[in-house]
Amino acid sequence: MNVSDLREILQYVPRFREQIFVIAVDGAVAAGENFGNVLLDLAVLRSLSIRVALVHGAGHQIRALAQKRGIAPSDFDGIGITDEATLEVSIDAAVRLTHEIIEGLAAVDLRAGYVNALIAHPFGILGGRDHQFTGRVERVDTRALDALLDQEIIPVLPPLGFDGEGRTYRVNSDAAAIEVALKLSAAKAIYLADPAALQESPPLPRQLSVPETTDLLKKDRSPIARTIASKLECAARACAQGLPRVHLLNGGINEALLTEIFSHEGFGTMIHSNEYQQIRRIFKKDVRSIMTLIRQSVRDEELVRRTRAEIIARIEDYWLLEIDRTPVACVALHAYPDNHSGELACLYVSKSHENQGYGRKLMSFVENLAREKNLNTLFALSTQAIAFLKQKGGFREADSKLLPPERRERLAASGRNSKILAKSLRP
Ligand code: ARG
Repeated sequence: MNVSDLREILQYVPRFREQIFVIAVDGAVAAGENFGNVLLDLAVLRSLSIRVALVHGAGHQIRALAQKRGIAPSDFDGIGITDEATLEVSIDAAVRLTHEIIEGLAAVDLRAGYVNALIAHPFGILGGRDHQFTGRVERVDTRALDALLDQEIIPVLPPLGFDGEGRTYRVNSDAAAIEVALKLSAAKAIYLADPAALQESPPLPRQLSVPETTDLLKKDRSPIARTIASKLECAARACAQGLPRVHLLNGGINEALLTEIFSHEGFGTMIHSNEYQQIRRIFKKDVRSIMTLIRQSVRDEELVRRTRAEIIARIEDYWLLEIDRTPVACVALHAYPDNHSGELACLYVSKSHENQGYGRKLMSFVENLAREKNLNTLFALSTQAIAFLKQKGGFREADSKLLPPERRERLAASGRNSKILAKSLRP
C-alpha cells in the first residue's frame, strides 16, 4: 500500500463517522463462505463509529427448508404469492437466519438485536390474483431502530412485516432495506448480492446516476438476473427519494465491502444521487493541486514544466477532475482564436486512477469545449501520449504548419521535439 491509498482511506473515515449504513444481505450470501469475512468487516465499520443496520433476505433458506419439509413454496422472494404454508416456512427460515446472523455478530464481539420495525400491509389483489401473505412495507418504525443504534446495537431485520393486528407478512428484503435506509436518513444502503446472480448478468458499470439506472433497466433489462434488476430498481427509487448512495456488491468476494467504502473507485456498482465525480474550472487555490498532480509526469518528461505564474496567467484554461472532492486528473484547453484552433494540454491522470477512462473523459470534455468555442481544429503536442491520443482520441499526426505561428516558435525553442497530433472538429 502506498501513501495515496492511505490518504484515500483516511478521507472517507471522518466522512462516514456516525453515519448510518444499511447493509442488505442476500440469503445466499449469509449462507456463503465469505459471510465470516463480511461479519469481520462489519466489526471494522463499527470500530470506526459507522452505525450499521442489517436487513437480510431468506430466499435461499426458504428453498432449503421447504425442500426438507417436502413442500413446494408458492414464492421465494416476497414478490409473488405467499400462501399460508409458504408463510410458515418463510417465518421459520427467516427468523432462524436472523438468529444465526446475531450469533455470527456475537462471535466478532458485536451486539445485535432482532427488531420488528417493518409495518406491512398485504399486497392485495394484483392482476386478478390475491397475493395472500405477501406484504408491502407501509412504514418503518424508527423508535426501536434508533434506540438500538444509540446503544451501539446492530438492528437485524428479517424480511417479515407486521400489521396492527399482529399478523405477519413476507416482504421483499431489497425493498425493505431501502425503506429502512430512507427512514433512518442513512448515508448509504449496500446490497451484498448473490454471486451466482451477478455471474449470470452482464457486467454492470462502476457508477450510475439515477437516470442512467432507469435507462439501463428500460433498455437492457432482459439479460440482468431478476434479483439484480430488483436491486437496481430499488436503488434508483431510493436515490430519487434522497438516499445519497446505494451500492451493489458481490457478497462472495472478500475485499468487496471495505474496498467499496474506503476507496474512490470502489469495487462494485454505485448508484448515486449526490455528487461523486465532477470536472470543474480551477481557482488560484487549486494551482498547487495541479502542480502536485503533474509533478511526476513533468519529471518523466511527459508534460512540459509549468510554473505557478504560467498556470495563473491562463487559469481559465485549466480543468480539474475530482472524485469525492479529491483531484485525480487535469487538462487544459488553450484556444488560438485567430488560428481557429485549440491546444489540448496538460492532460494527466494520477497513477492511482489510471485505466478507469478518465483520460478519455477529459479528452472528450475538451473536444466539446473546443466545439463550443467554434474552433475548427484541436491539436496536442506530445512526447509520450501519442498512441493514446491516436487510439482513444482519434488524433492523427500533423504538420507543424497547422500550428498557430507563435506556438510553432515556442515548440521549436523548447527542444522537446514533440509530435504534433491534430483532429478536425468540423462536421
Ligand atoms: N468510497 C466511496 C463511497 O463509499 C466511493 C465508492 C465508489 N464506488 C463505485 N462503485 N464507483 O461512497
